[in-house]
Amino acid sequence: MNIDLVTDIVADITVEFINKEDYSTDTNKELLDLAGFDAEQDTICFLHEKRKLFCGIQTKDSDDIRSAMSIAIKALKSTKYLSASVNVDKESISAIIEGIVLGGYEFTTYKSTPKVQTLEDFYLTCKDISSLQEPFAQALIVAEATCFTRDIVNMAPQEIYPQTLAEIAQKLAEDNELTCKVLDEKALKKENMNAMLAVGRASVHESKLIHLTYKPKNPKKIITLVGKGLTYDSGGLSLKAATSMVSMKMDKAGACAVLGIIKAASELKLDIEIHGFIGAVENMVGGNAYKPDDVLVSRNGTTIEVRNTDAEGRLVLADVLDYAQEKVEADYIFDFATLTGACMVALGQYTTGLMGHSQPLFHKFYDAAYHSGELVGSLPFNKHLKKLLKSEIADISNTSSKPYGGAITAGLFLDKFIKDENKEKWLHFDIAGSAYSESVWDCNPYGATGAGVRLMSSFLSEIN
Ligand code: BES
Ligand code: ZN
Ligand code: ZN
Repeated sequence: MNIDLVTDIVADITVEFINKEDYSTDTNKELLDLAGFDAEQDTICFLHEKRKLFCGIQTKDSDDIRSAMSIAIKALKSTKYLSASVNVDKESISAIIEGIVLGGYEFTTYKSTPKVQTLEDFYLTCKDISSLQEPFAQALIVAEATCFTRDIVNMAPQEIYPQTLAEIAQKLAEDNELTCKVLDEKALKKENMNAMLAVGRASVHESKLIHLTYKPKNPKKIITLVGKGLTYDSGGLSLKAATSMVSMKMDKAGACAVLGIIKAASELKLDIEIHGFIGAVENMVGGNAYKPDDVLVSRNGTTIEVRNTDAEGRLVLADVLDYAQEKVEADYIFDFATLTGACMVALGQYTTGLMGHSQPLFHKFYDAAYHSGELVGSLPFNKHLKKLLKSEIADISNTSSKPYGGAITAGLFLDKFIKDENKEKWLHFDIAGSAYSESVWDCNPYGATGAGVRLMSSFLSEIN
């Protein structure tokens, strides 16, 4: 479907947003009343004879517009209209594009008979489009990068494993003039990345470390992004229960978010150098699997007692974070990971958990969340929880000795691998809940949401 910004057009149908106040005086009120419409948020009503689709909104805030547009596009996609139009202004344009692109997203790769879609053109109309050209182009780039991330996360684990994930990164590098370096297991051994290697040992697929770089001419800042790329998390020998294993193809969502963010940043031509480091690994069972009771010597020399092989993401990230800090002296270090089920218990399934030491950075991301429409909440570190990672036989245990605060103790585990000089530059994003959902919410479909892409694009766009 094409999306265009135009001054004036006659399309087959026009979308109109309406709140209760405007509804009470609307010329179509009588007809809409008859149809049972009352302008409630997320309700819609077609007046086909008038070629209009009315969408209820509570307020004109972007959250409400985005949500209403997401409902509208789904309805329009099952009609026979060829073209649609909607009025936009500076305030609403991004939310409308997100609604159309993200709300209209469907993952159909594995369907044998694709749905026929009639709607071909969506026109965004405005009298003076000159001031909207830039936000229009930017919102489209970010929304499409979000869909790019969703597509990879949604792909089946028989198809996406460390090597194929690396190939996707290499293809992105070719398309967007980035550089991409991939380390195989031989190279990882040389780098002493034994924690990461242990997790992938029972897989038939070799683990890979992917380093993707976007390097503009005069960067204002250098940013390191680290992504958890568990292309499948069976739990390993601490095997997941059958029902909890389903959907664990999404354990690569952190890695896919990093790819989407770099895609967006490079297409937005931001003056920021970005390094993406992805630990691509498959956590499986087998005779050579790593075991509870193993002690691993991680890249920075810290010894780790493995008490649960399902707490594997932190082992991979420990080594990748250490590698990333050695290779790049960054202004900020952000890691994205579907790290803990406990994060969902703490914040609910839609909210990304932020952890770290820098209050100013938290605040920057509260702002970025507000502007991008993603949801974030911070989870506070404290020294008492840190003690729960104590091991009797090694420097640290990979699981907490208590069942509470599991997202925070996982964050504190990662903190052990952040160098002192980088503590204030680092934030950990637990996207376990926000990256994937089997229920539709806001502009998010069944499956992958692309969490992190809009949030980070908004943060990066504000850097100066
Ligand atoms: N990938 C999972 C976390 C997860 C769970 C993400 C559910 C999305 C939905 C992670 O590797 C894991 O298994 N974590 C364990 C940690 C525990 C063993 C300390 C968990 O959350 O149960
Ligand atoms: Zn796990
Ligand atoms: Zn995992």
